[in-house]
Amino acid sequence: MGLSPQQTAYMEKYGSDDARKFVSLRFKTVRRQTRDLCAPLAVEDYVIQTMPDVSPPKWHLAHTTWFFETFLLIPLLESYRVFHAQYGYLFNSYYETVGSFYPRRYRGLLSRPTTQAIYQYRAYVDEHIEQLIESVTDDQWELCRNRLILGIHHEQQHQELMYTDIKHIFATNPLRPVYRLMTEGPVNHPADVEWLSYKGGLTDIGNNDEGFAYDNEMPRHRVYLEDFHCASRLVTNGEYKEFIAAGGDQYPQYWLSDGWRTAQEKQWTAPLYWERVDDEWWLMTLSGMRRVDDNEPVCHVSYYEADAFARWSGKRLLTEAEWEHVAGKVDVHGNFCESGRLHPVPAQPGKPPSQIFGDVWEWTQSPYVSYPGYRAPEGAIGEYNGKFMCNQMVLRGGSCVTSSTHIRASYRNFFFPADRWQFTGIRLGEDR
Ligand SMILES: [Fe+2]
Repeated sequence: MGLSPQQTAYMEKYGSDDARKFVSLRFKTVRRQTRDLCAPLAVEDYVIQTMPDVSPPKWHLAHTTWFFETFLLIPLLESYRVFHAQYGYLFNSYYETVGSFYPRRYRGLLSRPTTQAIYQYRAYVDEHIEQLIESVTDDQWELCRNRLILGIHHEQQHQELMYTDIKHIFATNPLRPVYRLMTEGPVNHPADVEWLSYKGGLTDIGNNDEGFAYDNEMPRHRVYLEDFHCASRLVTNGEYKEFIAAGGDQYPQYWLSDGWRTAQEKQWTAPLYWERVDDEWWLMTLSGMRRVDDNEPVCHVSYYEADAFARWSGKRLLTEAEWEHVAGKVDVHGNFCESGRLHPVPAQPGKPPSQIFGDVWEWTQSPYVSYPGYRAPEGAIGEYNGKFMCNQMVLRGGSCVTSSTHIRASYRNFFFPADRWQFTGIRLGEDR
């Protein structure tokens, strides 16, 4: 589209002289990107579910389409007829107020509808969305635009999930298939970590109303920070290997109780996708197996491992407020999915802090809870974020499979502390 992430965010928020044309273009672009993402898949790849957290690519394709059908076409396009009466049951993820839904853990058991039928469903909904954009009245335009922008960001979230789920699907297969050959990334041997100093006091966090944001990023509010240090770059594979070699994963004193129990039960000895081959560590990537590069950021670690590594290092994870305070002074640029690498790359020389955006989501020590004054939106859309505010931890900054048009300093991602299949890594902090 030729728009920078900042321009895109601005246009989404304020529209333009030709707002309908802009939203239509953005819709078409995102829908095409999802199809492009699936281009390397064989038809068998679309159906597999390798664990309850993973959804088959076919399900993502249908669910993102269901979102537009349910929240735009059914309520706003009078002439619309649903594509299939049972798709609402099959492809609703978790919206209780919309109706019942098929159990998540069984999504991989659905050989029908076929992948081809789901592509027809997508084409049908795309065509009707275009009709809606052209015909919706000026009175309903704002609601329509807001829902469309939400649907577009929802689809971008699922694009990232598709990358992570395809990686899990391929890593589970002993053939270790290549999804896409990697665009070679920049090489570097990162310098030692510098401890960047931040002064405490009152600061504001939360979305500042300059572009699209999810409800959970608001309201912007004051927080009090103590003085702290933030690491100039992410923790590397080489550093994580030292933790493993020192037996850091053998000593309960570095681990949270839940983490220690989980690590024992699941027999974790290294990050997800690492394997010992002839006395060397290898790892699975979306480009197949390769040797672990000590210079790259460590990836696919749980919150428990990130926290244990931090304790073993004599440091700690940042809080989300500290992270946002640091990120608020940094431009949104980094190694995102647009680079085509789909894998984190070593920190590059330049003004620190580096790797704040892109590469890996950074676990923070903050639980995912509502901000002061938060109210979930009315209706089913209120189920998007608010009902998950329990037992999960906040991650910040996006990853190498996040789109550059889908990240900002205030963005709050959240996963359970034992989750490892997302592109998750570690940045350390310390009290000053
Ligand atoms: Fe979804």
